[in-house]
Amino acid sequence: MGTVEGIRVSVDRGSTKLLNCLYRNVYSTSVTIAIVSAILKASNFALDRAVQALLNGDLVAFPTETVYGLGGDALNEKSIARIYKVKARPTNHPLIVHVSSIDKLDYWVSHLPEYALKLAESFWPGPMTLLLPKTKLVKEIITGGQDCIGIRVPNQPFTISLLKDFESQGGLGVVAPSANRFGKVSPTSASDVEEELEKYLDKNDLIIDGGLCQVGLESTIIDCRLSNPKILRPGAITKELIEIVARKDLMETEDEVEVRVSGLLKSHYSPKAKIFLHGSPNRGDGFIALNDVETPLGAIRLASPADTTHYAQILYRALRLADQMQIDKVFVVPPSGDGLSIAIYDRLIRASFE
Ligand code: TXA
Ligand code: MG
Repeated sequence: MGTVEGIRVSVDRGSTKLLNCLYRNVYSTSVTIAIVSAILKASNFALDRAVQALLNGDLVAFPTETVYGLGGDALNEKSIARIYKVKARPTNHPLIVHVSSIDKLDYWVSHLPEYALKLAESFWPGPMTLLLPKTKLVKEIITGGQDCIGIRVPNQPFTISLLKDFESQGGLGVVAPSANRFGKVSPTSASDVEEELEKYLDKNDLIIDGGLCQVGLESTIIDCRLSNPKILRPGAITKELIEIVARKDLMETEDEVEVRVSGLLKSHYSPKAKIFLHGSPNRGDGFIALNDVETPLGAIRLASPADTTHYAQILYRALRLADQMQIDKVFVVPPSGDGLSIAIYDRLIRASFE
């Protein structure tokens, strides 16, 4: 009997026939196939499968507007333990809970300060995570033993439906870190997730293909436990936007608040290639800059984004491309200015740190 292992299937409603046919052929020729997790195109069929997978305690990697998340039932300790294992993430680094709307905070959040309510009403669904005091019900395995919960309402049509349907069947939230191995570049497409995690997922886990992420960088994390908000991880919801909506000055980073955010580690979001923010590339080195910057002679252009928004959207793809092309050094000219440029610079500094 022949054995073919590790075959990955990508199915949507239209191709289930093909899959059945594949099964029949497989059995008639006595070949055993070990099918690892499937990639499903975002569709109603995928939605039903994904809700069921979450209810069964399996993992679902799903698209959000920021990056792809590796999701599991936030009340299922086995699912949560598997997320840590699949990511190889230390268990004292907490997970963000995803819910479908601001009305679903009660189980998780014990107190929502006035300014946090304004932020939530203005920016959810959207690329913003709030750190808020947690209720006693929230398990330590989610918060890494800290007294606060990280929570957000993502803005991606499939994922909002997934959360709503999951909640309608009794679920209270979905924990989802970015769907990459710990310390690595976050995935912004389903194939990135596959590249990162295929070896570690089980056959009942799913990867949902919702196309490229719109924002391309992880959510802004705002600590809302004190009198004024504090940005712990910059993102598409910028300092300027937060100050206008919260009607409060932001606390500066020097005003130390004891909280552990793995995205704040000096080295994070790292490709295999070494990233340089200064100096000039030699022949064969990678190069990333806005499209009005010329490519230095002999360098390999990895991305030419048209503006800052586009820069954020394709940065992680470009870093992955460098690894796929086995480029050892990548020289990057970050966009200047405030707003989203701050988040891009933050990720590049961490990606460049050894
Ligand atoms: O855009 C995003 O936020 C994506 C998508 C999937 O939602 N998620 C994401 O998750 O980036 P992750 O785990 O890769 O990064 C979340 C960061 C981590 O650094 C974690 O330590 C921090 O948020 N965090 C989560 N919950 C926290 C908590 N209760 N207290 C302190 N930090 C927390
Ligand atoms: Mg992450």
